[in-house]
Amino acid sequence: MRQFRKQEHIENFLKSSFRGNTLLDQIFIDHQSLPGVSLDDVDLKTEFLGKTASAPILINAITGGSDFSKTINNALANIAHEFNIPMAVGSQTIALETPSTIESFSIVRRNNPNGIILSNLNGNSTIDDVKKAVEMIGADGIQIHLNVPQELSMAEGDKDFRYIAENISKIVEASTVPVMVKEVGFGMSTKAIKELYDIGIRIVDISGYGGTNFMEIENMRNPHLDTKQLYRWGIPTALSLLEASQLELPDLKLIASGGVASGLDIFHSLVLGASMAGICGELLRYVIHGGPEQARNYINNLVEQLKRLMVLVGSTNVEQLHSVPFRITGTLKDLYTAPRFRQ
Ligand SMILES: Cc1cc2nc3c(=O)[nH]c(=O)nc-3n(C[C@H](O)[C@H](O)[C@H](O)COP(=O)(O)O)c2cc1C
Repeated sequence: MRQFRKQEHIENFLKSSFRGNTLLDQIFIDHQSLPGVSLDDVDLKTEFLGKTASAPILINAITGGSDFSKTINNALANIAHEFNIPMAVGSQTIALETPSTIESFSIVRRNNPNGIILSNLNGNSTIDDVKKAVEMIGADGIQIHLNVPQELSMAEGDKDFRYIAENISKIVEASTVPVMVKEVGFGMSTKAIKELYDIGIRIVDISGYGGTNFMEIENMRNPHLDTKQLYRWGIPTALSLLEASQLELPDLKLIASGGVASGLDIFHSLVLGASMAGICGELLRYVIHGGPEQARNYINNLVEQLKRLMVLVGSTNVEQLHSVPFRITGTLKDLYTAPRFRQ
């Protein structure tokens, strides 16, 4: 059942056509005619989970659990290895239930023995599940995903969300590797981020609205429940990230994902305060439609675009981007400055 669902998610993702807006294009940054730096001096190196990534780009959680996903993970792991960038596997629950699928996940570590690799499980997972998932791929950290709208729209999905935070706090206490929490394209509110911070989470991927739309993907799977009215549900990536970074919680690392597709999107995310940007849907399209070589060229382009954008604002490392002044316009400004009733 789960194996079939994973395949359907990829197929429906490829068929999906709804386009939301991340609002990342509503960030305005001044061009610097005298940047005072050289392209050769730009260094994208980023410390992450005790290792050094060569660029602040994360291949975000996608798949595992079937022969087809093994092919995808094989291609993605080779790219992660070549570019020395972190990669997360898709939810490993399927491998815990069906050990014959483990190989479709462990290939990621086999192809990339020293790389930064992340496990992925849901918020109701047990400590034993976490331990097994981490061991399965020799993970450097684990992503716990939050996906309430998606669960609610799946006939077989979870319907009880009362104990997730409590469970995550137990995972944080018991885990031998850092635990990060991510959304799946609905964005994270400041309330949720503060709650996660209070239970010890120090890495959050806000995975906002505007890219992959799981309401549309699930709507194609479930003829009994129409979720069209929720295609616009979620906090746009730029807004979620901006509000999260304004919290200024000490030692909280923010990852930006959700509709991040270009070097400019990554650049805007880093300027807004993210220390890394996650790519999922756009890369998956390249892998499936173009093949591994095109996917590789796409990542290479992102790296080169990002370096050039950094020159345009006189920055030679990712840290400096956090001090680059920016303005916000349009809907992003409206939403960010709109008064909240009933705080
Ligand atoms: C086919 C597909 C499968 C996914 N599976 C998972 C998953 O197993 N676990 C998870 O945390 N996120 C999963 N995601 C969500 C992504 O990691 C990401 O948060 C989301 O797609 C938003 O990023 P994007 O707009 O770049 O795709 C999946 C996304 C896609 C497209």
